[in-house]
Amino acid sequence: MSETIAILGGAGDLGQGLALHWAKAGQSVVLGSREEKKAQDAAARIKAAIPDADVAGLENAQAAAQGTIVILAVPFSAQAGIIKSIRPSLKNAVVVDACVPLAAVIGGRPTRMLGVWEGSAAQAARDLLPGVTVISAFHNISAEVLQDLAATPDCDVLICGDDAAAKERLSTLVKLIPGLRPLDAGPLEMSRVVEGITALLISLNRRYKVRHSAIRITGVGG
Ligand SMILES: NC(=O)c1ccc[n+]([C@@H]2O[C@H](COP(=O)([O-])OP(=O)(O)OC[C@H]3O[C@@H](n4cnc5c(N)ncnc54)[C@H](OP(=O)(O)O)[C@@H]3O)[C@@H](O)[C@H]2O)c1
Repeated sequence: MSETIAILGGAGDLGQGLALHWAKAGQSVVLGSREEKKAQDAAARIKAAIPDADVAGLENAQAAAQGTIVILAVPFSAQAGIIKSIRPSLKNAVVVDACVPLAAVIGGRPTRMLGVWEGSAAQAARDLLPGVTVISAFHNISAEVLQDLAATPDCDVLICGDDAAAKERLSTLVKLIPGLRPLDAGPLEMSRVVEGITALLISLNRRYKVRHSAIRITGVGG
């Protein structure tokens, strides 16, 4: 099916990185921001890199209304507020949560996870979106690598969720980005583990003095 991908936090690092690749692959992308002008400027940056990009910039709720797939790419500390602001605008979209509840979002260490009452950021998103299909992905990919179209990411994208069809739709979009392999990582509750891998990767980056450690799962084919 043809998708319109709305990226909330689309002017941010992860949002821009994903938007660049999907625009390059010919997908329709709508960038969301709290400020329409910021979203428009972000869309203009994508257009500058990919002149024939099908990309627009809108305020978050308006962007969410356009999306068949809505990516939530905002800091965990902003997640609940953004969800509440866009909730009435969603039109049967699949929401993909990419938030990682690192302690850094409240001034703690980036190698530590916050305890989330619901189990994970993704489950917190689901609880705020009754009746909406929520899945999660992209926690373990470096936004910096994604923002460099000359670089090829080397990473598996672990997708968690309770709706197989929604995970399949996102897998199709992940496969459009060179170097990324989508894997079905099981139910949404598995997102707690996947989100935690990000803290591990940040710790490895520091220990080995690198910037973009990532994960590959072996033994699953594909
Ligand atoms: N960076 C990475 O490498 C990476 C990788 C995997 C997953 N993630 C996860 O993806 C999410 C986005 O990461 P990021 O690095 O792209 O974040 P970011 O650039 O710091 O922020 C993304 C956008 O969120 C909005 N935002 C920031 N603070 C906010 C606040 N207090 N209230 C409401 N909105 C706010 C801003 O959009 P507007 O000002 O335009 O509204 C901002 O452009 C995070 O949860 C992160 O854990 C990041």
